[in-house]
Amino acid sequence: MSQTKAAAPAAAAAAPPTGTEAEPFDVFLAMRKRRMHRDFRPEAVDEALMERLVYAAGRAPTARADLRHLVVVTDPRMIASIRQVCPGWLNNAPAMIAVCTDTRLSDELIGPGGVPATLMDSGAAAAYVSLAAPPLGLGICWVTSWPEEAVQGALYLPDHIRPDILIAIGHPVAQPPLAPRRFKPVVHRERFGSEPAA
Ligand SMILES: Cc1cc2nc3c(=O)[nH]c(=O)nc-3n(C[C@H](O)[C@H](O)[C@H](O)COP(=O)(O)O)c2cc1C
Repeated sequence: MSQTKAAAPAAAAAAPPTGTEAEPFDVFLAMRKRRMHRDFRPEAVDEALMERLVYAAGRAPTARADLRHLVVVTDPRMIASIRQVCPGWLNNAPAMIAVCTDTRLSDELIGPGGVPATLMDSGAAAAYVSLAAPPLGLGICWVTSWPEEAVQGALYLPDHIRPDILIAIGHPVAQPPLAPRRFKPVVHRERFGSEPAA
């Protein structure tokens, strides 16, 4: 595994990075454009764009403060280590954000209910990143298929920090076609089992 000097951890930006307030964008357009991308151009993702994705992840709802950790990875050697240990990494993204949970603090603050709550937290953070990506011209892919210890080792995570979702990030080569069936949940009105809403 390559040895990369870790930067000091930083709390998710308290002040929004440049551009998050000024530029209007339609969240419904972002929802329509959002897809998982696996084919990326080789160029690096600008730090300012990564910062905006970190901001998006930090704005997602959370069961408790301080449980969520983000590991931002842009070093090609670190990405290569991840690709090596992660069978679900089916993309060639040059960057990544790992959404992780402090399980020790979660046990302390929430107890056993902390497991589903923190997984929901991580899903919400990854969903926010997914919606922030299209207006920034970025594509992302969630990756969750891995041996946990291997990802922990590759990212130098302590035992009490659980990796939940790796978000591969880059400039997509093309927009994949829509998969319409995937976006149609079974909808019930007022009670389960009623006629699905039209
Ligand atoms: C919880 C979850 C886990 C996923 N895990 C992986 C994964 O390990 N590797 C991968 O390439 N895609 C993964 N995906 C992406 C799905 O395969 C993707 O949503 C699917 O291909 C449909 O693409 P779409 O979201 O663009 O419609 C995951 C998605 C979700 C929601």
